[in-house]
Amino acid sequence: MTDAALPGNPRHHAEPASLDDVQGWFWDHDRHSFDWFLGRQEKTGVTGDLLEMGAYLGRSAIVIGEHLQPGETFTVCDLFDSDAPDDENAAEMDLSYRKTLTRSAFETNYLAFHDKLPEIVQAPTSVLSRGHIPAGAFRFIHIDASHLYEHVVGDLQVARVALQEQGVVVLDDYRAQHTPGVAAATWEAVFNHGLKPILLTECKFYGTWGDPEPFQRELLDRIDLAVGCHLSIDQLNGRRVVRMHGDSEGIEPFRGSRHQSRLAAESARREAERSADDARLALNSARDEAVLDLAVRRARAAEARRPVNVAKRAARDLLPPVVTSAIRRARRG
Ligand SMILES: C[S@@+](CC[C@H](N)C(=O)[O-])C[C@H]1O[C@@H](n2cnc3c(N)ncnc32)[C@H](O)[C@@H]1O
Repeated sequence: MTDAALPGNPRHHAEPASLDDVQGWFWDHDRHSFDWFLGRQEKTGVTGDLLEMGAYLGRSAIVIGEHLQPGETFTVCDLFDSDAPDDENAAEMDLSYRKTLTRSAFETNYLAFHDKLPEIVQAPTSVLSRGHIPAGAFRFIHIDASHLYEHVVGDLQVARVALQEQGVVVLDDYRAQHTPGVAAATWEAVFNHGLKPILLTECKFYGTWGDPEPFQRELLDRIDLAVGCHLSIDQLNGRRVVRMHGDSEGIEPFRGSRHQSRLAAESARREAERSADDARLALNSARDEAVLDLAVRRARAAEARRPVNVAKRAARDLLPPVVTSAIRRARRG
């Protein structure tokens, strides 16, 4: 997991011009995969609510929010500026998020791309199991909050109850060295609790408690899949898993924010002002040099006009060279 975009003072959060200006951990293959799963659901008439556990500054939430259809609800659950429920989770927060994360920064980013905020639950994800969200109502859930085993197990239980039969759950960091808890919880859900893998990317696991086959068939038929996204098939305990790799060539960039043209105009104006300042400085310095040059030439001319120098030059020009040399020798004595 590598930081993207600008770390900054969260109290003076700058409006983003593009998704790349929103700090976070959400890369092109997953942006494309989110668009693919959510887009396929929309094309086939599947409706349902959307949920993200762990939004940070909104980089993935902004993309999920792009798919919200009329009548659907998008819920985001994050601690933001609140205290973590236990010491380990607090340490995780201090290490990775506290310096940059505020709810207000999330809201600024989200509203740069969307007219309305999602439903925000500012609390540990464990509250979601206490009737916060309706059972069987969700078509897509992204789990990317605490990466500690016990928390992810709880988040998976919430997802299982909340998802529709063919709903899709996505788990972040299911294979990173620093998140063994996510790996353990993910594969435990696969081997003991009926979660079926659909797709694996470098950072995320996509699965369902329904039937993975229709998703995998359309992926392998490359329906709506970007050029450059390569797919491979693995067998896992008799079950097919599709892996995505390759480059991001062919994945369309995400649209700009509502501030994009104003920020571009402001930046062009600042650039023009900087160039005008540079030109003014160059002009002043050229003018100073010319004034100095003139002063030096005037001083030299005045020196040349001094009577003693005029007499010397006249003697040099008028007397025969033998006499001039004799005078010089006599002066040297
Ligand atoms: C890896 S970040 C999310 C990144 C985001 N999805 C993205 O793609 O940029 C994890 C987020 O989970 C939140 N978080 C950590 N522990 C949590 C908990 N127990 N309950 C709710 N949110 C939590 C953190 O505040 C942080 O914003």
